[in-house]
Amino acid sequence: MLTPTAEIVDAAARAGRGVGAFNVIQLEHAEALVAGAEAAGAPVVLQISENAVRYHGSLAPLGSAALAVARASATAVAVHLDHATDVSLVHEAVRLGFGSVMYDASTMSYADNVASTSDVVAHCHAHGVYVEAELGAVGGKDGVHAPGARTDPDEARGYVEATGVDALAVAVGTSHAMLTRDAAIDLELIARLHAAVPVPLVLHGSSGVPDADLTRAVAAGMTKINIATQLNKTFTAAVRAYLASNPEVVDTRKYLGAGRAAVAAEVARLLGVLGAR
Ligand code: G3H
Ligand code: ZN
Repeated sequence: MLTPTAEIVDAAARAGRGVGAFNVIQLEHAEALVAGAEAAGAPVVLQISENAVRYHGSLAPLGSAALAVARASATAVAVHLDHATDVSLVHEAVRLGFGSVMYDASTMSYADNVASTSDVVAHCHAHGVYVEAELGAVGGKDGVHAPGARTDPDEARGYVEATGVDALAVAVGTSHAMLTRDAAIDLELIARLHAAVPVPLVLHGSSGVPDADLTRAVAAGMTKINIATQLNKTFTAAVRAYLASNPEVVDTRKYLGAGRAAVAAEVARLLGVLGAR
């Protein structure tokens, strides 16, 4: 069933469980994520990034499909807008019925980040929509998710108080789109952030984190765990393998179906790693 992100994430944070938040690029991803979550008996967050919106040219078609898949599911499913820098896209997600948005002002100065995020929070809260934001200590091309970036716990607490955000993405050693799973995350910093910040913490770039450290990150106080690249690797490997063994196939359902089944299995496995049940 379509479930508010607030309900899923806040309940998990209170219970010390992780929440898997996985990116939807094609409809098959949404179907796979829900099938994996149903198999694991866990809730899940389907998220659509601004980059995916650019790829499709608009939010409504894929966003409406993700909402429909969520409504039809046997488990609790939230639909979230990921990494939005465009405020009009945030407003559209609110109109469509998304449960949450991530407003990403992490490349702005601290003062500008606080001011623009506060405006987004006011709009979203007026419509009952949960807001995740991001605070980084290091700017530059890779922004907060350069592997060297770290979020300061005191600044993070001040940022949450100043903006009223509901969840906070922090920099603890991950970086986006890693193809290897060998990122060194700072578990001690996660524990300090957890003690300092009154809202659930979000780990981005989690594809680069080995399974054991994902489990440790949740134990140290991380709640929402964002994973995209790992599922793209899984999907693409399954499609490649299917096409290599079936070179005569032309029906797209055959190989996309193989990708979808592989992603569902990997999602169920990852939800176990995150203790998401
Ligand atoms: O917001 C989405 C995530 O941070 C995904 O990052 O592709 O490195 O897993 P990833
Ligand atoms: Zn991210």
